[in-house]
Amino acid sequence: MILGNKKDMDHAFFGQPKGLAALVGTEFWERFSYYGMRAILLYYIVATVAKGGLGLSQTTGLSIMAIYGSLVYLASVVGGYVSDRILGSRRTVLYGGILIMFGHISLSIPSAGIVGLFASITFITLGTGLLKPNISDMVGKLYKPDDLRRESAFTVFVFVTNVGAFISPLVCGRVSSSYNYHVGFSLAAIGMFFGLLFYYFGGNKTLGEDGAKPSDPLLDGEGKKVTFIIIAGLIVFAGILAVMKQMNVLTVDNFVSLLSVVAIVTPIIYFVIMLRSKKVTPDEHKKVLAYIPLFIGAVIFWGIEESGSSVLAIFAAEQTNNHLGWLNIDPSWYQSLNPLFIMLYTPLFVLLWSKLGKRQPRTPKKFAYGLFFSGLSFLLMVIPIFLFGTSAKINPLWLVGSWAIIEIGEMLISPIGLSVTTRLAPKAFGAQMLSMWFLADAAGQAVNSQIARFYTPGNEIAYYGTIGLVAIVASVVLLFFVKPIIKLMENVE
Ligand code: GLN
Ligand code: ALA
Repeated sequence: MILGNKKDMDHAFFGQPKGLAALVGTEFWERFSYYGMRAILLYYIVATVAKGGLGLSQTTGLSIMAIYGSLVYLASVVGGYVSDRILGSRRTVLYGGILIMFGHISLSIPSAGIVGLFASITFITLGTGLLKPNISDMVGKLYKPDDLRRESAFTVFVFVTNVGAFISPLVCGRVSSSYNYHVGFSLAAIGMFFGLLFYYFGGNKTLGEDGAKPSDPLLDGEGKKVTFIIIAGLIVFAGILAVMKQMNVLTVDNFVSLLSVVAIVTPIIYFVIMLRSKKVTPDEHKKVLAYIPLFIGAVIFWGIEESGSSVLAIFAAEQTNNHLGWLNIDPSWYQSLNPLFIMLYTPLFVLLWSKLGKRQPRTPKKFAYGLFFSGLSFLLMVIPIFLFGTSAKINPLWLVGSWAIIEIGEMLISPIGLSVTTRLAPKAFGAQMLSMWFLADAAGQAVNSQIARFYTPGNEIAYYGTIGLVAIVASVVLLFFVKPIIKLMENVE
C-alpha cells in the first residue's frame, strides 16, 4: 500500500512517474541500435565481398533477415520466464542490453565476416528476448491497476520507440555508404551503450525496488527440473542437426526451415497448454478462444509489416529511382518511413479515439481493418510493377504510399494488440501472455523466411498480389467473426 501511495504521488516527468523517463530513454537507444543495424544488414549480407559485404545470395539474405527477426521475438518467451522466475525484470533488462551491445560489436569488426554475423544474431536474439518484453512490462508496472495514466504512458513509449527507429536508418545508412558497413554497426553499438548508461544510472535513481526480484521465484527443486528440460531440449536440437548433417542436408536454408518450424509450433503449443491448464478458469478459457483469431490476424499483419526490412528493402535498392536531382537517397533511408508514419499518425489516432469515445470500433473490428490496410499496401506495389516492369526504376512515392497505407494498419493493430493481450490473459499466464503477443510477429516472420524463395523478379507481381489478397480475405473473414469474438470476450472492454 505504501508503494501504491508513492506511485500515486509520482508525477515528476510531465505528469508521469520519473521511472518512465529512464525506461523510455533506454528503449529509444535500444530501438535506435536495432533498427539502425537492420536497415543496413540485408545490404551488408548481399553486397559482394569487393564492396565490403558478405556476398551471399539475395534469397539467402532475405531468409536470414526474416528468421533473425523471428528469433528475436521468439526469444521473448525466454525473457519473460527468466525475469518472472529467476532474475526479476531490472537485472534481466540490464543483461539483455549488454548482450545486445556485444551483438553490434561483433558486426562492427571487419574481419569477423560470417562468424561475426552469426555471433551477432545469437547475442542480439538473446539480448532482445531478455530486454524487450520486460521493459514493456516495467512500464505497465509503474502504475497501479486503475491508474488512467497507463494508456498514455504506452502511447509515449511507442512514440519514442519510433523516434529511435526513425533516426537510426538515416544515420547508420549514411555512414555505412560513406565509409563502410562496419562503421554503421559501430554506431548501433554506441547507441546501445548510451541506452545502458541511461538505464543503469537513470534506473538506479528512479525505479526504486520495482522489478528488483523475480515475481514468482523458482521453488526448491524446480530449478533442477527446468535445467533438465533446457538441456534435454538442446540435446534434441543438436541431435536433429547431427542427423541432418549425417544425411548431408544441413544447409543454411534447411537450418532456417528448422528454426521456422520452431517459431510456428511454439505459439500453437502455448495455446494448447493454456486451453488445457487447470489454472485457467472457464471464463478465462473463453477469452483464450477469443484471442486465437486475433492472433492469426496478427501473424499475417506482422508478416507483411516486417517485409519492410526485407523484400521492400531490396525493392528500394534495386527498383527505385534514388537519384532525384540534387537528392541522393540512401536505400536504407526508406526504413525510416515506417516509424515516421507512426509518429505522424499517433496524435491523429489519439484524437480520433477520444473523439469517438464509446462509438469507436471494437477491438476485433480494428484488427480486421488493420489487416485490410496491410493487404492494400502490398496490392499497391503490384501497380508499378505491372505498369513499368521489374527492370525499371520507379518513383519513390510508390514505396512512400505503401508505407503510408500499412502504417494506418499498424496503428489499428500494434497498440491495440498489446493492450488486448494483457486484458485477455488468464491470471496464471499474465507476463507470459505478453511474450505471446511477440510470438505473432515471430510466426509471421518465420512464414516470410519460407516464402522468401518465391521473391524473384519474375514473381514479384504474384508475390505482392497473393500475399495482399490473403490479408484482405483474412480481414473479411475476421469481420464475420467479430460478433462471436466479442461474445467470448464478454466484459473485457
Ligand atoms: N515495431 C515494433 C517495435 O519495434 C514491433 C514490435 C511488435 O509488436 N511486434 O517495438
Ligand atoms: N513501427 C515499428 C515499431 O513500432 C518501428 O516499433
